[in-house]
Amino acid sequence: MKSLYLSLLVVIVGVVKADPLYFKPRVNQVGSKKLPNFCNGLECPQFKVVKKFKDYELREYRLSYWVSTNIVGVDYKTASKELFERLFKYISGANVKKQKIEMTAPVLTKIIPSQGPACESNFTMSFFVSMKNPPLPSSKDVFLSRLPRQRVYVRYFPGYHMSDIEYWIQEAIDLAKSIGDQSKYETKYYYIAGYDSPFRFLNRHNEIWFIANQDRARDTFMMNTKY
Ligand SMILES: *[C@@H]1O[C@H](CO)[C@@H](O)[C@H](O)[C@H]1NC(C)=O
Repeated sequence: MKSLYLSLLVVIVGVVKADPLYFKPRVNQVGSKKLPNFCNGLECPQFKVVKKFKDYELREYRLSYWVSTNIVGVDYKTASKELFERLFKYISGANVKKQKIEMTAPVLTKIIPSQGPACESNFTMSFFVSMKNPPLPSSKDVFLSRLPRQRVYVRYFPGYHMSDIEYWIQEAIDLAKSIGDQSKYETKYYYIAGYDSPFRFLNRHNEIWFIANQDRARDTFMMNTKY
């Protein structure tokens, strides 16, 4: 009995240890800032909803900073695992200050689909950075980046689809159908945003992002600009 109890304890501690940053209270406030519930009490980028439509919304995000990593030439499942591991190492201390950094939300992945059978999709995964002076990554695969202030069309949906790219593609197609006019957004790439830890199975919140085009003049599509 005692050994069963002990081994259960080991399992529980093991799980918590593997992913300590996700185990946070589900509140909608970090400090004094009001954050959406789906951020799960983690820091996440600030936005306002410009317009709500039947099954999507147009948001305006503020300038935001991210830590990113990129891979080309593998399938989505392999890519997402590899990229997540690299970023998780960064926040676990693989940075020049050997600093541990709290998990944030969302995990944002930019997908540039392959343009033909001979080409490969290009995946860039990013974690939101809420701190003022994030340390430089110690791996050269990982880099600091930023997203400009910009408007984004967002479709959100529940469910556990992390490694199933077909599901995300279907959601992206549905968002495109809902918006209708393709000139309203950037069509060469899109983003998928996941807000929940792999250990959360219910009430998950996922999003597809299309970058709105109405602001061409600012020419602000600067994702992955190094700084
Ligand atoms: C993949 O996309 C990123 C971000 O958009 C870009 O910086 C990088 O050059 C691309 N890589 C390739 C091989 O196209």
